[in-house]
Amino acid sequence: MGIKRFTLEALDVNKKDQIPTHIRTPCSVRTALTCFCDLNCIPTRNIIRVLSDYAKDSTEAQTLLNLTDISSIEAKQQYITQIETPKQTLLSIFQKYPSIEIPLDHLLEILPIIPKRYYSISNYLPENSPNPQLEFTFSIFNQSPSEENHAFTDYGICSNWMKQLAKEAKQLDPLPTDTLMSPSRALEEEKLFLNNIELALPSNHGYYLPIIPRNITNFRLPLDLSIPVIMVATGTGISPFRGYLQYRKYQKQKVPNLELADAWLFYGCRHPERDFLFPELENFGQEGLVNLRTAFSRLNPDKVYVQQRLREESNIIYNLMVYKNARIYICGEANEMVKSVKETLISIINAESHKTTGNDLLASWISEKRFLLDIW
Ligand SMILES: Cc1cc2nc3c(=O)[nH]c(=O)nc-3n(C[C@H](O)[C@H](O)[C@H](O)COP(=O)(O)OP(=O)(O)OC[C@H]3O[C@@H](n4cnc5c(N)ncnc54)[C@H](O)[C@@H]3O)c2cc1C
Ligand SMILES: NC(=O)c1ccc[n+]([C@@H]2O[C@H](COP(=O)([O-])OP(=O)(O)OC[C@H]3O[C@@H](n4cnc5c(N)ncnc54)[C@H](OP(=O)(O)O)[C@@H]3O)[C@@H](O)[C@H]2O)c1
Repeated sequence: MGIKRFTLEALDVNKKDQIPTHIRTPCSVRTALTCFCDLNCIPTRNIIRVLSDYAKDSTEAQTLLNLTDISSIEAKQQYITQIETPKQTLLSIFQKYPSIEIPLDHLLEILPIIPKRYYSISNYLPENSPNPQLEFTFSIFNQSPSEENHAFTDYGICSNWMKQLAKEAKQLDPLPTDTLMSPSRALEEEKLFLNNIELALPSNHGYYLPIIPRNITNFRLPLDLSIPVIMVATGTGISPFRGYLQYRKYQKQKVPNLELADAWLFYGCRHPERDFLFPELENFGQEGLVNLRTAFSRLNPDKVYVQQRLREESNIIYNLMVYKNARIYICGEANEMVKSVKETLISIINAESHKTTGNDLLASWISEKRFLLDIW
């Protein structure tokens, strides 16, 4: 079957409606829907209103329209509980309201651009490195169908795409180092990439992965190695800490009698043989670069989480936090984890100090930027 190409044109030139600039035409329908438009978005009220116009079934149309009434508190609440909180994507709306028949051009007009995803760099790159490669650590996001949510598996767009790239790239020649880009060049390249997305298919050397570096604002591990740090990571949250430990190792190699302040890493993942991705962490421990405590949640019938490991080191943690001005970093996916780690730290402070100041202390460290989070 040949590739069908089309060009979108605004039919009514007097209308303000423009073809969204993020759709680079001409392109195939598949490219528009897989590379430019976010079919997997959580539809806004505006999108739902448009969909209701195209629902052939009047009950479906009315139900959708009801969700969009911003003057009604009840409707606002319904939108939150039915769409936002269960993360109903546009695709699941189409499934739930099968009478919606929206013309392709209008659909493309209302779909937002696929948003960028953030990934932490997980290695340390010394200046003038002979082998300047950035490493990222990512887990593949797939959510099984659930009754109230989606009728089909929810495949994370970017992580599954990168998985596919990684798989295919293995079969290709390595990328020559002269193709590595400076940040400003990367920005230009991204524009180029978007213009030529269909041309950016595998060459002999690999793929372009368009990257825009983002300056970290707060979550910055101290370059000054006399500052003690307590790092708490779950899953892919290990990324920035691995880079930091590589940095400590590099500095120690450069200046062998360099005094390193205490560094503690509490790392939780599922199983030592499945997702404990960096055995080098154990070497860092043996080399005295970090005190590593691992918590494997699926090794034994009883789950072990990082909170338990923190409690086991209560006294040391307390002294580092309260008397040595240690900085505390937490990184990982689960919001629940962060909430629970905070509570653990508060209870450690209260128990060790025999007071109830844990809450206030933690709040003051947060405002002093001594307690930092990178969560998603
Ligand atoms: C600062 C930062 C650093 C990060 N670092 C890492 C890292 O080092 N490693 C790592 O693995 N991940 C990291 N992440 C998470 C990463 O950016 C992605 O969110 C993750 O990989 C999933 O992306 P995806 O495209 O595969 O999934 P998505 O396609 O984004 O889907 C993920 C879930 O979000 C829902 N969803 C989709 N669109 C929306 C929307 N518009 N609004 C709300 N929900 C929506 C989907 O239904 C699905 O349930 C980081 C995130 C941040 C913010
Ligand atoms: N890690 C993997 O092997 C893997 C594989 C495929 C897909 N994924 C998916 O990728 C996404 C992120 O994966 P990830 O590796 O970054 O993280 P993750 O595997 O979801 O979590 C990392 C660790 O944190 C634990 N954890 C969960 N809730 C916690 C809490 N409240 N307090 C403390 N620890 C907690 C997990 O334990 P439990 O999960 O055992 O409770 C696990 O040991 C998830 O959606 C996951 O489903 C992960």
